Amino acid sequence: MDKILILDFGGQTTQLIARRIRDLGVYTEIVPGDTALEGDALSGVAGIILSGSPESVYTSESAAPDRRIYRCGLPLLGICYGLQRMTADLGGQVEPLSEREYGAIEVVIHNEARGAFFAAFDSAVTLEAIISGKADVCGNGAGEKKITAWMSHGDTLTRLAPGFRQYGTSATGYPAVAAHEENPWFGLQFHPEVTHCERGQEILAAFVFGVCGCSRNWTMEGYVESVRALLRERVGGKPALLLISGGVDSTVAAALLLKTLPVGQVHLMYIDTGLMRKGETGEVRRNLERLGAEHLHIIYGEEEFLAALEGKTDPELKRKVAGDLFITIQEREVARLNLGEDYFLAQGTLYTDLIESGKGVGKKAHLIKSHHNVGSPLVDAKRKAGRIIEPLDKLYKDEVRRLGRLLGVDEDVIRRHPFPGPGLAVRILGEVTREKCEILREADAIYIEELKRRQGASGRSLYDEIWQAFAVLLPIRSVGVAGDVRKYGWVLSLRAVTSADGMTAGVYPFPPKDLIEISTLITNAVKDIGRVTYDISSKPPATIEWE
Ligand code: XMP
Repeated sequence: MDKILILDFGGQTTQLIARRIRDLGVYTEIVPGDTALEGDALSGVAGIILSGSPESVYTSESAAPDRRIYRCGLPLLGICYGLQRMTADLGGQVEPLSEREYGAIEVVIHNEARGAFFAAFDSAVTLEAIISGKADVCGNGAGEKKITAWMSHGDTLTRLAPGFRQYGTSATGYPAVAAHEENPWFGLQFHPEVTHCERGQEILAAFVFGVCGCSRNWTMEGYVESVRALLRERVGGKPALLLISGGVDSTVAAALLLKTLPVGQVHLMYIDTGLMRKGETGEVRRNLERLGAEHLHIIYGEEEFLAALEGKTDPELKRKVAGDLFITIQEREVARLNLGEDYFLAQGTLYTDLIESGKGVGKKAHLIKSHHNVGSPLVDAKRKAGRIIEPLDKLYKDEVRRLGRLLGVDEDVIRRHPFPGPGLAVRILGEVTREKCEILREADAIYIEELKRRQGASGRSLYDEIWQAFAVLLPIRSVGVAGDVRKYGWVLSLRAVTSADGMTAGVYPFPPKDLIEISTLITNAVKDIGRVTYDISSKPPATIEWE
């Protein structure tokens, strides 16, 4: 299978480059920018992309690629810092701009720009023509060669490296596109992966198909078959224990194991922390049984969690207490299963989990949040022993959803909003009590049920229009009236955000009628709640969860 390797220098949009190319049907892998290109590091690689970076090439700590990329004969595409990197490495010059360039900027492609790569800039050439190799790559083309690109950089090329020629200029007068006269090396000062970049997908396609000669052979069906063969071979007759959270990732991982290995070999463990949503554990059980689970170990930890959280109000402390206890219970219960030394531990870790946690790939990317998935002593020990299986670790979230559908996972699970490991503990501000868990569970269930029942402007349910929605119980009470009696009830806040990946988020523009009706339904049904508010903070500056 053809593969495009992406060297990650810490750019914000590195993930996006990988996604866009996978969308074209070509497999991509992201590795740290300074990865040594030896052994089989380049096996199957048809081309290399050098990503953007927040750094400047002229500072001493800036990351550089293994110089063998300039000798390996493979096509190269430098994006932003990637182009500056190639320029600096190959003898050109990069210097700071007096003012950063940011946002939409027009780029004009020079007339002499010819060949498969530059066909992408011709407005008359379709994406299909580029993909199928039928684009007119030699002629002048019928269309205009001018695009509105998207830029974000504080440095510019002040001298191209020997052998390079400038083929495009930005409206601000700086080099925007360069290519080597002999080698298949290209550089863009802008970001084709960003959706606001005109002809961005065509440009990536031109590199991948026109220059690298890739075929479109990254399909979910093909991928699943190769993963299943690998799983069977690695696990053999040994037991495999999968830690389940009930979310999309672990449920899809469970489905994959159950449909690949003999079900008797597959153990699933789920810990009900007592901080789950209404009816959640029952749903998890039903879903896994429907997928054929035989050894389903459900551990009830409510008493232990509530006792550990008693009197704790500091958000970080609450997270730590809940996280540590989760790991303690997990280790204890796993030991009780007596699976022997040799069993495999499986997790529904995604590609992005590894990147966000700074573990495997993309060590330049900042640590976003800690995942239970990647760092418990049990997991570490199993990893060291070579006994970890993470069958989804090459996939992105929406690819996991596609895989889930292929494996017959319930649509309700596939479309489920994310839910944090510490559960309601981070949605009950201040001290967590059993009574508050009950109140929040009831209110949240009404909120979510209504979102699923009501239709949004797009024709989909409100739930599907929203990326993540939940209710938060505030540690304050306010005065209200119920009949003739003054009432002193808790304040509830509703959260609903739009997002692509949870790293940034916008406020969902909630239809006012629905919001008002849902508020009434909640205060009518949950007598301890006297007032409902709507959270209108985006991320940043706020976070999605409140604690
Ligand atoms: P924040 O609140 O950091 O949340 O903006 C971003 C996304 O991450 C989820 N989240 C977590 N997920 N364990 C998880 O598995 C956690 O401890 C955790 N904390 C936050 C949050 O729900 C949102 O989707």
